[in-house]
Amino acid sequence: MAHTLLLSDLPSWHELQALAEPLRNTSISALFNREVQRASDFSASAAGLTLDYSRQLLCRDSHAALLRLAEQAQLSRRAKQLLAGAPVNNTEARPALHTLLRARNAPAGLEAEFSRVEDTRHRMRLWCERITSGEFTGFSGQAIRHVVNIGIGGSDLGPRLVSAALPSWHGPVRCHYVANVDPAELHNTLRDLDPCSTLFILCSKSFHTQETLANGEAAKRWLQAAGAPDPELAKHFLAVTADLEAAAGFGIPEENCLPLWDWVGGRFSLWSAVGLSTAISIGWDAFTALLGGAEDMDRHFVETDCANNLPILMSLLEIWHCNFFQAGNHVVLPYDQGLERLPDFLQQLTMESNGKSVSRDGEALGYDTAPVLWGAAGTMGQHSFYQLLHQGTRLCPADIILPFSTATGEAQQHRMLVANALAQSRALMIGRSFEEALGSLLARGLDEEEARQLAPHLVIPGSRPHSIISFDALTPHALGALLALYEHRTFCSSQLWGINAFDQWGVELGKEIGSGILQRLGNPDADKTLDPATERLIGEWFRAQASIAPIDER
Ligand code: F6P
Repeated sequence: MAHTLLLSDLPSWHELQALAEPLRNTSISALFNREVQRASDFSASAAGLTLDYSRQLLCRDSHAALLRLAEQAQLSRRAKQLLAGAPVNNTEARPALHTLLRARNAPAGLEAEFSRVEDTRHRMRLWCERITSGEFTGFSGQAIRHVVNIGIGGSDLGPRLVSAALPSWHGPVRCHYVANVDPAELHNTLRDLDPCSTLFILCSKSFHTQETLANGEAAKRWLQAAGAPDPELAKHFLAVTADLEAAAGFGIPEENCLPLWDWVGGRFSLWSAVGLSTAISIGWDAFTALLGGAEDMDRHFVETDCANNLPILMSLLEIWHCNFFQAGNHVVLPYDQGLERLPDFLQQLTMESNGKSVSRDGEALGYDTAPVLWGAAGTMGQHSFYQLLHQGTRLCPADIILPFSTATGEAQQHRMLVANALAQSRALMIGRSFEEALGSLLARGLDEEEARQLAPHLVIPGSRPHSIISFDALTPHALGALLALYEHRTFCSSQLWGINAFDQWGVELGKEIGSGILQRLGNPDADKTLDPATERLIGEWFRAQASIAPIDER
């Protein structure tokens, strides 16, 4: 077996360490003074998106060295291997073929898989049309007007994000999303819905996920309580799954099931039948445009040289911050309300994919991998955590996402949003010196002594590295391209770190322990075999069950 090449084995590793050193004492503004063409030179465009990375702590030499790192890791070749179906998921011996789900034509050698994808797309379209036209009716003969997608992780976050991001495309059927095993989420969602006109999509690749099955059973009980006879329940359930037998066991007949395949990772699956709720919500044409945007980004990824390749450039920046400046986090700041849930989606995409400590060969790594990803839609974040971005002690590399227009028709107010995004970007870069702070306080009429005391609190170091990803409008095409961009960035970073982005063994232990504890919670007399801290909390829980009065719902 070929030995995985690690980041620290690549020839540019030491060179980049040396190049990072002087930059620690350089400001981004100083780099702009030295390199006047930065604004145009450090930007690249693809599929309608422009990445401006001129406000990164990166000089021409370090930029060139990062591009050499990409060559040494053979990122272009690996991109092609990914799309060609190489078994990149080595611990599960599978390819990761999410790109096939948005392909217009069959890649060589993948004709059989592609024809299954096309067949499923056709069936999705039919379901979408039957439901949105009102032809598909529930047990009482009423048309379906609400769809509740029940799924979690990759079977929830992508469809939930896309549906929320594109309200102008919403059609006659409203889609809702329920993920949490906390019964409150389903309960609150169903409170305003009519069982006669509600359809559930059980979305689970494995069809063994506790949260999804529990919510599915609760949905069944809700329909039964409303008078739906058992033989009619199938009129209210579709399934999207790789395990048709398990779906049949739940009571969903095969004709109501859309397939998934083991070569689609959950967090990469929104392009598959997992996106059925999205397609119902925004309509088939918009869903096709979403796939088109992603496919355009796929083509850019495999056809463009490293220096102009958006996913590769963004991955190199991630490595630069993470491994040469020890940034443990990455903040995503979308200036569009529709992208409010983008950080949630990216958390699973990047942290479940690349939150690993061993190489593809199982060797412990001597460097950091995925940073903690966080963020919020502007301008809410500005009134919450931007204080830390501007004056805190931690390095928080950022991506500002900036569509240039609004679908609301409120162009005048949207201008304020754009001004906020540009102002924050500029403030992050230029900061405010002691002299400037002092000068502004004196101009406000403070005396010299007061001004000197207060000025240090107004100093903003600036030089906070960030990129801006801009595009004309948040359309289905632009959104598809944006999400595919982050998918490929995640893949490239995994290749540079020498890890497998497509497994998630780390989530299994908690699930195993959870099922044992669930049994314990059903049996107060069971032996106390767990650790003392867990046993104490189990004891507290039993005490609370006996003593806490239920809260009456208003
Ligand atoms: O627990 C993690 C995970 O396996 C994710 O990778 C996945 O997206 C999610 O659970 C849901 O899994 P499923 O689609 O099989 O219900």
